[in-house]
Amino acid sequence: MASNKRGMHGIWGSRWTFILAATGSAVGLGNIWKFPYITGENGGGAFVLMYLVCILVAGVPVMIAEVLLGRRGRMSPIHTMQAEAKEQQAPAVFSGIGWMGAVSGFFILSFYSVIAGWTLAYIGKMASGEFSGADADTAAASFSGLLADPWTLLGLHTLFMIMTGGVIARGVKHGLEDGVRLLMPLLFVMLIMLLGYAITTPGFVQGWNFLFSFDASKLNADSIVVALGHSFFTLSLGMGAIMTYGAYMPAEASLTRTIFTVAFLDTLVALVAGLIIFPIVFSNGLEPAAGPGLMFQTLPIAFGALPGGTLIGTAFFVLVAIAAWSSAISIAEPAVAWAVEKGVSRGRATFIVCLLAWLIGVGTVLSFNEWSEVTFLKGTFFDNLDFLTSNLMMPLGGMAIAIFVGWYMRREDAEGELNVADHRVFTVWRFMLRYLSPLAILLIFVKGLS
Ligand code: PFF
Repeated sequence: MASNKRGMHGIWGSRWTFILAATGSAVGLGNIWKFPYITGENGGGAFVLMYLVCILVAGVPVMIAEVLLGRRGRMSPIHTMQAEAKEQQAPAVFSGIGWMGAVSGFFILSFYSVIAGWTLAYIGKMASGEFSGADADTAAASFSGLLADPWTLLGLHTLFMIMTGGVIARGVKHGLEDGVRLLMPLLFVMLIMLLGYAITTPGFVQGWNFLFSFDASKLNADSIVVALGHSFFTLSLGMGAIMTYGAYMPAEASLTRTIFTVAFLDTLVALVAGLIIFPIVFSNGLEPAAGPGLMFQTLPIAFGALPGGTLIGTAFFVLVAIAAWSSAISIAEPAVAWAVEKGVSRGRATFIVCLLAWLIGVGTVLSFNEWSEVTFLKGTFFDNLDFLTSNLMMPLGGMAIAIFVGWYMRREDAEGELNVADHRVFTVWRFMLRYLSPLAILLIFVKGLS
């Protein structure tokens, strides 16, 4: 039987609310902004295939393990991992999984909010009609103009952080349930519409081939690490976000089916975003490896060309901002939940967490202007935070979760919590968690970091 412990933070209304909330966490800037640009930087199809393999071999099994841990513990990841490590008599380092997650949460939220701020700016830019009939040069100039202005970026970063804090302070259930129920379906409809446009562009076949034709010569160790890191980032894994949402999941809901649904929806959104952006890239003679500006330099061209593009474009960036919003909330929730369990009021905990992340975010704001020449290790301040969280901390957290649930959690506890009718599903999952997932992560690390 799944444990029927109740937590102090409340329970989702139903399995579907969990799916929506977890999809709200998973689907965000990672899918629409980051996936296309890192695919562009890493040569296309071979990278996409690696990413899909990582989702299947490491992402999904770890996601199931993470939600399972959350639902058993019914507390913030820090407390859940402390309690579970003790109960399962695992070495003390495993109780630190929650702490590492909370630290990476601060780092991720700090830059996530800055980029989400760009999408807020684009809502205004779109609505003002700036892009009607715009060509590639206008779109590029508009984007670089935005990045060159640290005060505007700081203002937008602040606004987004306040929006995020506002929802978290109200409590995840009240703040989030209503929002995601309406907005996630809307985002899907919008993406499908844009896909319809992309299909009509002359570069569609080239875009399709770029995404789906496999050319092994384009693969290198670095891009494999990026693919692995992204599979964790996009599914919100390895840092406690999904564990926290698992803690609010009803005891009777089926974990495996639920998580397959979330992973499927997340992957679908990323691929559709790629299928929208790359045809526009090729139709306009743009560079697929344009980096973080890719989405902002391509989509306005599409909207500029579409009848009613001003309105559709505005609505689209509203939806991307909302997708980012529902993700940002889940990034901060583990640290806030921990502080609440420690007796701090929810409002005050939210304020402190958001303030800290905001401060670190200033470094990312400056990475695109004043400090753009200040590079070390992996590049700018932003590049380093991105690398540290996506490519190191999240996979490391995921590996620790896989090892903990695979090797230290008693079989009957894991099986009881997973609660699948078909015994074979459990056996396959446990095998993957014990061997395949940790080994894949380890191999990729060793190769990528050597
Ligand atoms: N999965 C989110 C995205 O793809 O945009 C980002 C994210 C959310 C990362 C929550 C980490 C996290 F805990």
